[in-house]
Parts: sequence; C-alpha cells; structure tokens
Amino acid sequence: MKTLLNSEVKNEIAGLLKPILADEQVLYVKVRNYHWNITGNQFFALHVKFEELYTELALDVDEIAEKIRVLGVFAPGSMSEFLKLSGITEEKENNYPDQFQMTDNVANDYEFLTVRIKDAGAKVQELGDEVTAGQLYYLAEKYDKHVWMLKSMVQK
Ligand SMILES: [Fe+2]
Repeated sequence: MKTLLNSEVKNEIAGLLKPILADEQVLYVKVRNYHWNITGNQFFALHVKFEELYTELALDVDEIAEKIRVLGVFAPGSMSEFLKLSGITEEKENNYPDQFQMTDNVANDYEFLTVRIKDAGAKVQELGDEVTAGQLYYLAEKYDKHVWMLKSMVQK
C-alpha cells in the first residue's frame, strides 16, 4: 500500500521539476524567436513547425509549473529565475542562424531536455511518485520524437 509523500520528498521532487520548467520556458522563447525570424527555402515548413513546438511547450510549461504547486511548492515564474535554472541557452541578441542551424539548435535543445527529464523521471520514481514520473516519461516520449524529426530534416 502506498503512503503519502512527506513534505521533504515533495520538496525534493519540486527541485527536480524546476530546471525542467526553466528549460521549457527558455526553449519556448527561443523557438518563438526562430518562428519569427526564420528565412530560407524551408520557411513555410519551419515557420509552421516552430509554431507547433512553442504552442506545445506553452502547455507543457503549465503542466510542470502546476505540478510543482500540487506538491505544495511555489513555481519559479520570472525570466531571471528561468535563465538561472535552465541548462538551455537563449539565442544571442541580434543573431539569426540560418534555417538549418536553427533546426539543429532546437533538436539539440530537445535532446538535452529529454536527458534531463529521463534522469528526473528515474529519481522521482525512486522517491515513490510514479504519477509524476509518468508525466515526465510522457514528455520524454514526445520530445524524443521531435529530436528524431528535426535531426532528420538537417541530415545530409
Ligand atoms: Fe506567428
């Protein structure tokens, strides 16, 4: 029979979720930037693809933030916190990589994120929270697919 998670464990789980929330938020901004500033012969495909990705990220960010709240912890919500917590870096100011570099950057960021998520998922499972682990693995499955598709596009 499962027991309730104590507040120390909840805090620990929230601590694993915060960097994921930050990564998703920074990636959201980066992909939206690319959606606006993409140029080249793949404009129509990538402009739409990037919109699809940032729209999904906006929902995923919300899921993670609210999970942190369910655990009884306040969710980071400022850009300065996100940038501190995130392992994903924003695009540099006034820098607009070409369409393939943008695609490759997004693929690499999703790949980084899936590693972080799978690692957190395993730890969360060990801590006895299978529901949160399930949420994380669901995200990892979706993001793995994005990595495959984006990398396929830039593959020579
Ligand atoms: Fe748009």
